[in-house]
Amino acid sequence: MNINTSVKTLLFSLGLLTIQPNLVLAADPVYSLRGDIGVDELSEMIPNRRAMAVDGGISVTFENQPPLIPHSIDKTRITLHENSCLSCHSKKNAKETNAVRPPKSHYYTRKDSKLKKISTGRYFCTQCHVTQAYTKPLIGNDFKN
Ligand code: HEC
Ligand code: HEC
Repeated sequence: MNINTSVKTLLFSLGLLTIQPNLVLAADPVYSLRGDIGVDELSEMIPNRRAMAVDGGISVTFENQPPLIPHSIDKTRITLHENSCLSCHSKKNAKETNAVRPPKSHYYTRKDSKLKKISTGRYFCTQCHVTQAYTKPLIGNDFKN
């Protein structure tokens, strides 16, 4: 019996090791997207993963979830002067592009006044809407909707 196994046996008999022995003893370290580079050191650019493209959209998993973006946004820019999401998603352009029109909620101020244009509080779409990529999850997740 090697040391690792005997520690496992000990923990198991103490009731400390139940369902997932590997998580208790040998979980892989979890790093941020920067990797294990110190905050005072320069890091490499984070690789840009290919975004999932899902026809018909990605179903939401909880009530009031901002729907996930089902297409790549590599070419879109949101700056003070332009918001290229709106070049497809604005009320006017959506007719031609077939992009889903933002809901009514996006055209109200916080004080409930109706606006003609997207509310400034909703201008930075990617604060709430994000793309998805095919990657290995960093840690296990058993969330069910
Ligand atoms: C070139 C046009 C185009 C651009 C630019 C664009 N979209 Fe889209 N978007 C679409 C189309 C078309 C769909 C519908 C896709 C489908 O359902 O198959 C869509 C779907 C979506 C959905 C899913 C809506 C739902 O109810 O499932 C979200 C959210 C979204 N886009 C957000 C964004 C954001 C945020 C940006 C900018 C970062 C953006 N889009 C830029 C065309 C565009
Ligand atoms: C503060 C968070 C937030 C921001 C910023 C935001 N959204 Fe949303 N969005 C939501 C939420 C939450 C929903 C779903 C609930 C609702 O109807 O408000 C939603 C829904 C949507 C939908 C789905 C509409 C449908 O009928 O299925 C689209 C499209 C959309 N947003 C586009 C955008 C675009 C484009 C921008 C940027 C101009 C944007 N959103 C900015 C939170 C946000």
